[in-house]
Amino acid sequence: MLTAEEKRTGVQRLGPWFHQIDLGDGVLTKSRPAGTEPLDHPRSTWELVGRCLPADLEGRSVLDVGCNAGFYAIQARRRNAGRVLGIDARRQHVRQARFAARALGLQIEYERMSVYDLSPQVTGMFDVTLALGLLYHCRHPLLAIEKLFGVTRDLLVVESEVLFPSPSFPPTEQAANLGRPLHPLAYVENHTALNEPAYNWFVPGVDSLMAMLRDAGFVEVKLAYEPAARALIVCRRPLLQADSLSMPHMLAAQLSMVEGPAACRPDESLAFRVAVKNTGLSLWLDRGPGAVRLGVRLLDEAGEELVPDYGGVAVGHQVGPGGEVLLNLSVTAPSRPGIYRLEFDMVSEQVTWFEEAGATMALVHRVRVS
Ligand SMILES: C[S@@+](CC[C@H](N)C(=O)[O-])C[C@H]1O[C@@H](n2cnc3c(N)ncnc32)[C@H](O)[C@@H]1O
Repeated sequence: MLTAEEKRTGVQRLGPWFHQIDLGDGVLTKSRPAGTEPLDHPRSTWELVGRCLPADLEGRSVLDVGCNAGFYAIQARRRNAGRVLGIDARRQHVRQARFAARALGLQIEYERMSVYDLSPQVTGMFDVTLALGLLYHCRHPLLAIEKLFGVTRDLLVVESEVLFPSPSFPPTEQAANLGRPLHPLAYVENHTALNEPAYNWFVPGVDSLMAMLRDAGFVEVKLAYEPAARALIVCRRPLLQADSLSMPHMLAAQLSMVEGPAACRPDESLAFRVAVKNTGLSLWLDRGPGAVRLGVRLLDEAGEELVPDYGGVAVGHQVGPGGEVLLNLSVTAPSRPGIYRLEFDMVSEQVTWFEEAGATMALVHRVRVS
């Protein structure tokens, strides 16, 4: 613990402060407002954020991304959280946060790190992740959200500036030609003359922000509060398998060959039986654009593609994440003798082969035609 004098000199040395934190002994980190925020920022936001979190965080780990001087990380620790890690892209904030935790005698880890550097391998995973006042500072908001998803075990709380519906930013519209909703998302043009330490890049409408969070894989994406031009959104991620630490794709499948010939005669009919598991986050549709089928590509021994879509079979019914099906697929063997490579993959009709959407190549099978 620090003395009152050490607290006072530390506060002066490390200013200016964005967070007002009471360090005890009558020392506050901030005694003059910074920018447009109220002097006691972020106390009023915390009143809303605090209601979205369990009153007792006993044993739960908490990650505060864009933690600034650590106001929220401190609150999480005071609610009994286990491991608390705050990260911020700016060194000055990490210095401030470490100082405030020391002054309060709280055990909190702080690292200078960008949201883009988060990964389960580097930081581990967290039961609760906070991304408060962060996303509009991100030049790559979708990447940032994917990174947040990757390290969140259960709950993500997002607080952000949002577009207030107005004539210049109308609310979500149905785009007739696309057949789907268009959500407003504003790009902010920055002027270097602003000389700000952190620019704003995109200001989303509430619907865009919620859609982006859902697309990253979060479920139960709920708008908790929408005070003027700000929004607080609470999301959960689906339960993880104990061993699935990497980011699952929306479209991903695990394929295994149950039965399939390794050799045949030219033009013979080849019958394959393939076990398929939906390891992604999407529900596989059984009809219309996007319906999912098993497909196969034909390549020669050297890997040169001969027939891009050599055959396929529809899954035939909807398959949710984790669901499994057994599929029979028949194709006619090539007329010329040789060794051929068959690459099996799932296809979202008129949309993509799963591998092209980022999934790993599903199943390769070789056949000798002689
Ligand atoms: C508006 S402040 C919000 C601080 C705090 N979370 C709050 O709500 O009061 C934004 C914070 O995000 C940090 N930040 C900006 N870009 C970041 C990035 N790419 N990764 C991590 N932190 C970032 C800034 O340094 C700053 O501390």
